[in-house]
Amino acid sequence: MSKKRIAVFASGNGSNFEAIVKACVEGVVNAEVVLCVTDRPGAYVTERAARAGVPMIEFRPKDYSSKAEFESMLLSHLREKKVELICLAGYMRIIGEVLLEAYAGRILNIHPSLLPAFKGADAVGQALAYGVKVFGVTVHYVDSSLDGGKIIAQAAIPYEGTDRDDLEAMIHAREHIIYPEAINKVLPLI
Ligand code: GAR
Repeated sequence: MSKKRIAVFASGNGSNFEAIVKACVEGVVNAEVVLCVTDRPGAYVTERAARAGVPMIEFRPKDYSSKAEFESMLLSHLREKKVELICLAGYMRIIGEVLLEAYAGRILNIHPSLLPAFKGADAVGQALAYGVKVFGVTVHYVDSSLDGGKIIAQAAIPYEGTDRDDLEAMIHAREHIIYPEAINKVLPLI
């Protein structure tokens, strides 16, 4: 089976971007990351993409008059690169109609909670404030709802401490395993 072509969207650090690239390069995932997209030019993910030799699109949403306008720009790049699957990895922006229609059922997201708990921004902070004892991560399909698409994979992370850095390190480590696993579940379906 030929390798599927993935674009990863990220707004920040990009550790999940790197984990997906590594899984593809090592053959754990039968795909290739052909594009990295960021809405924050200069974010650390751009350094990771440069190191990995993955082509990059950096854009500023405020340079466009609407979400539809910048998503149309992105769509033309995605089509040019023949992208078949979009993986959101810390992309802190709601996907709009243009991309949802063009890539229906082919956009995934990773979220640092056991959805449907703690949707939206700062899920880890929300869960800590609530005093939960089992944290977690979720990979799900993206639809027009906020963090509400069908769940593909989840992992629970029991943690009774209060150190956010420790907790986030555990969450990231788990994300880097579960995202490639979730991609492997989806690839035969697209
Ligand atoms: C990840 O923990 C991911 O779950 C979270 O952003 C982080 C990005 O880390 N995503 C969300 O909160 C989406 N609502 P990374 O840039 O190191 O991959």
